[in-house]
Amino acid sequence: MEFREKAYAKLNISLDVGARRADGYHEMNMVMQTVKLCDELSVSTTEDGQISARSNLRFIPNDERNLAVKAARVFLDAAEISGQGLLLTLHKRIPVGAGMAGGSSDAAAVLRLLNRMYEDRFTRSELEKLAEQVGSDVAFCVSGGTALARGRGEILEDLPPLPDCRIVVCKPEFSISTPELFKKLDSAPVRHHPDTAGILKALGDGDLRAICRRMYNVFEDVGDRRMRTVAQIKSRMLDYGALGSIMTGTGSAVFGVFTEEAAADKAAEELRGEYRFACVTEPMPGLFL
Ligand code: C5P
Repeated sequence: MEFREKAYAKLNISLDVGARRADGYHEMNMVMQTVKLCDELSVSTTEDGQISARSNLRFIPNDERNLAVKAARVFLDAAEISGQGLLLTLHKRIPVGAGMAGGSSDAAAVLRLLNRMYEDRFTRSELEKLAEQVGSDVAFCVSGGTALARGRGEILEDLPPLPDCRIVVCKPEFSISTPELFKKLDSAPVRHHPDTAGILKALGDGDLRAICRRMYNVFEDVGDRRMRTVAQIKSRMLDYGALGSIMTGTGSAVFGVFTEEAAADKAAEELRGEYRFACVTEPMPGLFL
């Protein structure tokens, strides 16, 4: 029997980082949004008792270093199911090393899919608890939509949806390692913080322009030379008519928010000619709302 699930990408409407904690993680305060750009996942049962993955990208690991495999292991252990072999097949479309939670989203999709396969064994909040064991962004990806994420990223609060818009995502050639950028942040104190309260108010008002004016990611200000390319892409987005543009997560992808489909299409087409990846997508509502 084969089960299928979509794994949606996330973007950060804002990203603020607080103190480094005793456990090495940082206190986060982020407005997160899932978008329709997604990986496709399918799971089939096997007789060999192993959990493994395969994908259309050769450099993605097939063992427990792959968050999707780790999630399957966490699920089966929590459900006390032993000896079940699973083959996870991933068709990756979300750029890797982009700050779009591609790996975390695959992991969350595995949790949703296995939960369906095993007759809704766990509730949404139980799945989110399991997700925390897999990675900091996985809990958000279980339901997605628009949410405020705090703590390590696992303390979640559903928010009013992002108003209708088109989102252009562009990723340059290079990828950025998440731990590396967090380390840089430790040696360069955060000078400016996003107006998270203002974004929450603007979401409540359904005011896209007010949201876009306040979009901000503290990682853009860590003094990393790669942020020059990020700044160039942002400025191109604004030239093409974006209401706002920032880097997502720890990068390297940048997104711009547009009201006009034609302007978004044009921006993506032009950026695709210059950078590794560009596409147009749109906000995706939460799956468990
Ligand atoms: O939880 P996850 O494995 O996705 O985190 C990857 C890395 O990102 C951590 O090892 C840590 O360096 C950094 N991180 C952090 N604070 C967070 C989330 C992640 O420092 N809240």
